[in-house]
Amino acid sequence: MTTTIEKITLSEQEQQQIRGLLDEVMQIPMMTNQYAFMESSALYAQELPRRVRRKFYEFQRYEEAAALLVAGSPVLGQGAGPSPSSFIELDKDYRLNDAKILHGLYGSLLGEAIGFTSQRSGSIYNNIIPLKELSAVSNSSSGSDLDFGFHVEDAFHPARAEYLGLVCMRNDELASTTISCVDGVELSVEEKQTLFEPRFRIPHNPIHDTTDAVEEVLQPIFFGHWDAPYVKINAAALNLSEYVGVELQALTKLLSHFAKNRIEVVLEATGCIFVDNYRCVHARDSFKANYGGSARWLARVVFASSLRKSRSMRNSVMTRAINA
Ligand SMILES: [Fe+2]
Repeated sequence: MTTTIEKITLSEQEQQQIRGLLDEVMQIPMMTNQYAFMESSALYAQELPRRVRRKFYEFQRYEEAAALLVAGSPVLGQGAGPSPSSFIELDKDYRLNDAKILHGLYGSLLGEAIGFTSQRSGSIYNNIIPLKELSAVSNSSSGSDLDFGFHVEDAFHPARAEYLGLVCMRNDELASTTISCVDGVELSVEEKQTLFEPRFRIPHNPIHDTTDAVEEVLQPIFFGHWDAPYVKINAAALNLSEYVGVELQALTKLLSHFAKNRIEVVLEATGCIFVDNYRCVHARDSFKANYGGSARWLARVVFASSLRKSRSMRNSVMTRAINA
């Protein structure tokens, strides 16, 4: 098993410290605006308990765990309120709740939150809710009837983030999030070499509206170091019939590695998880969704190690929305 999840369970004292920090942040009205908050998140995150900061640092630095899960966060004390029935982040007066703010603080220990212009107008926070009208759409975060297959978040994009963060407001359906890590994949030298070469199509997910800014050229699926490759793949939209010979062989082995090493996490309300988006794919199996106020409700934010590396794809220094 190469997919391991590191779990942080907060002590009572850590919970108190974190609650105090959240109260301080949230008494400033502007801090519940996602864009204003993100400009201060990295600063406030330095006041999270040191043990928590260390765990996040080690997760990032050692590249051992596939994901980091924080349980027992002192948020949603009055409940999350009814699940939204639309993408509320598009509303002008969209406000963050304490769970999302804390998720942002944790994530800021890993990097800078980013968005994509092609996805909900560049919103940093993306609410994930099942929508009846999209229930049968595959590879949509609002779908539920069909499996959402393995993918690296924003795999097609050169500026995809290193970390995918999810925070759970409600999951009465007990829908699981599936994660699988590339570590330990067994391939012949020729197969591995093939995956390091620009011979594959990495299609967009339908969640991104436009494809104008990024050309769909053939790309490698592996990158980084030969001994411990990073991966970018969108298996959910991969058409294996386009490949033959060693390419097909390598893809088949990689997909079967992901299938064998998958682990399922059922997020509970207040749970925050951060997935290594360079070493892991993730998926969501089909589930029977509640619709309306009791529907499964997550929010997603992705975190990149640097904003600077995407500067040529952002229209201003201040925007976090990457052209896509
Ligand atoms: Fe995803």
